[in-house]
Parts: sequence; structure tokens; C-alpha cells
Amino acid sequence: MAAIFLFFVTIFLVYSSHLSSTDALSVNYYHQTCPTADSIVTNVMRKATMNDKTVPAALLRTHFHDCFIRGCDASVLLNSKGKNKAEKDGPPNISLHALYVIDQAKKQLEKKCPGVVSCADILALAARDAVVLSGGPTWDVPKGRKDGRISKAIDTRKLPVPTFNISQLKQSFSQRGLSLDDLVALSGGHTLGFSHCSSFQNRIHNFNKVTDVDPSMDQSFAGKLRQVCPVNNKAKNAGANLDSTPTVFDNAYYKLLLQGKSIFSSDQALLTNSRTKALVKKFAGSENVFFEAFVNSMIKMSSISGGGTEVRLDCGVVN
Ligand code: HEM
Ligand SMILES: *[C@@H]1O[C@H](CO)[C@@H](O)[C@H](O)[C@H]1NC(C)=O
Ligand SMILES: *[C@@H]1O[C@H](CO)[C@@H](O)[C@H](O)[C@H]1NC(C)=O
Repeated sequence: MAAIFLFFVTIFLVYSSHLSSTDALSVNYYHQTCPTADSIVTNVMRKATMNDKTVPAALLRTHFHDCFIRGCDASVLLNSKGKNKAEKDGPPNISLHALYVIDQAKKQLEKKCPGVVSCADILALAARDAVVLSGGPTWDVPKGRKDGRISKAIDTRKLPVPTFNISQLKQSFSQRGLSLDDLVALSGGHTLGFSHCSSFQNRIHNFNKVTDVDPSMDQSFAGKLRQVCPVNNKAKNAGANLDSTPTVFDNAYYKLLLQGKSIFSSDQALLTNSRTKALVKKFAGSENVFFEAFVNSMIKMSSISGGGTEVRLDCGVVN
């Protein structure tokens, strides 16, 4: 009897240790193999941000994009090759930039601990550093992601788009194991950065048959956006900051959202559901509550597992 029991316990232990060794990320993942991994990324991020204030927003957005397509496996960093058009060259890539920072970190890491630190982990660390360098909260990044070998431009269609309503957003997030609460907290990423006109033109021109401008927008705010982004906007780089303090990670995004001064329909949509609206108010009222929720949801998002199998030596190319 005891022997049979022991047999099942052993089977269980072997099985569960197998699961944890392949699936679970851990904060100390590089403790033995590359103890300076985190600080190398942080130093590269700090220098890059000193030279270009748009780096943090770019890399936070890139990490989100990575995790939402094939899990966090650095598929977003792969270059197109031959006939295969990669995510990088897919339609919503206008906001992808500053990827050179990831390459710089990778180069330094390859010198220090060759073949050890995955590009997906570098991106997760850079996203955390982006938040910290902008005055936001910090957290320990769980690591151990593997890099994937597939990247397809067509997959960028799976990203949520800025015209989504609350049910579409809810579905997009729940397909990735993220809740409505995560949606509200992670949308707070829009406290950083910039949008091109094309991403919010639906709200300021031809909104519907009755009105040109989304009535849920503050009308003078909408007027300013219409000046920057006229109907046949020709200025490729024209657009608007996502909140009033685009290089500061704060809760201004939620305060402005309550005033009808958000940029995307998908931001405004957070006010159309009682649960998400209550959370927006909570985060507008307390930056600390927002920070805590953001950290929790970021760890969840950055743990969406991908089918990665290798540690790429060059983040743009499979091994
Ligand atoms: C809820 C669904 C989301 C939608 C529909 C969405 C959509 C967008 C769009 C359309 C842009 C501007 C692209 C452009 O025109 O240049 C943008 C920018 C940005 N997004 Fe989101 N996003 C979402 C969620 C997130 C999440 C979860 C994060 C991170 C936690 C995030 C972080 C950012 C950042 C930082 C920027 C600015 C990028 C820059 O300035 O370079 N977004 N987003
Ligand atoms: C975005 O896609 C275009 C078209 O394929 C490409 O020329 C451009 O380099 C891409 N941008 C980035 C940052 O990869
Ligand atoms: C959101 O949009 C979809 C697709 O257009 C539609 O079927 C759905 O009813 C909309 N939901 C809400 C809450 O407006």
C-alpha cells in the first residue's frame, strides 16, 4: 500500500517539477548564469533614454505588442527574411522604434554571458526599466522566457485596435488570460508616449452620420486634435501625445480620461462599463493604487507564454 502511494507521489513530483522547469518564470532565473543581466539592461536603457526621451514609451509598447502575439517570445524583434514578412513590417508598426536599444543590450549581454539571456527577457526588463525611468513603480521581473522562431506580419491583425469597444477589448484580453481589471490597469501604459493621427482619426472626422466629432470627447480638446490632424493629413509624423505628461509615468491618463481627453476610442471605452469605469475613477483618485495594479497586471501580461525554444544570439535573426 505504502509502496503504491509512494509511486504516485513520485510520479506527481516528477511531473510537476517538469512543468515548473519548462513553464515557470523566475526572478532569480539568471542568478547563476548571468547575475548582472538586469543591471546591464538597466544601464543601456538609462543611457538611451538620456539621448532620446521617447525610448521608454517605445519599448513599453513593443513589449505589449510582443506579448499579445504568440506570447512574450520576442517575435516582434525578428527581421523579415526572404518571402516571410515579419511582424516588424506589419501595418501597425508605425509606433515600433528604438529597437536598437534592445540590440545594444543584447551585444553587451553576449559579451558577458554568451548565449544565456533571451531577447524576450531583455524586452521584459526594458519595459520595466521604461516605467521606472519615467518615474513609475518598480518590480522584480520574472525571467526565463525563450525566443520564438516565427514572426508573421499578418499576425499583427490580432492586436487590439484603437477603435475597439469594451466587448472587443474584453475579448482580446481574456483570450490571453487577462481580465477587465488588467485591461484598465494596462491601458494606463498610455500615460507615456505619442500617437499618429491615423490611430484616432475615427473620433475627429466623420465619427458617424450625425456628427464629425465623437460626442464623448471634450469638444475643445477634439478641436485641437482636428487642427493637428486635418482630414487629409499629409504630415506623416503628425499626431498627439497620449496624455499631458508623455514622458512621466503617472495617473494623469485616468484623470484626463474622465474629462473626455483621451486619445483613442479604446481608452474612452473604459468608461462604458460600470466595473471598468469604477476602476478608472479609483486610479484617477490614487496614483499608488494605480501603480500597484499596474505592476500586478504587467507581471501577468509579461508572463503570457510563447512557444519559444531558443536563446537568440542576434535578436533580429533566428539561430
Ligand atoms: C487596450 C488595448 C490597446 C490599444 C487598442 C492600444 C493602441 C495603441 C495605439 C493605436 C497606439 C499609437 C500608435 C501610433 O499611432 O503611433 C498606442 C501607443 C502606445 N501604447 Fe497602446 N494600446 C493598447 C494597450 C496598451 C498596453 C497594454 C500598453 C502597455 C502596458 C500600451 C502602451 C502604449 C505606449 C507606451 C504607446 C506609445 C508608444 C510611443 O510613443 O512610441 N498600450 N497604443
Ligand atoms: C515598418 O514597415 C515598413 C514596411 O514594411 C518598413 O519599411 C519599416 O522599416 C518598418 N518599421 C520598423 C520599425 O521596423
Ligand atoms: C462592439 O462592436 C461589435 C462589433 O462591431 C458589436 O458586435 C458589439 O455589439 C459592440 N459592443 C458594444 C458594447 O458596443
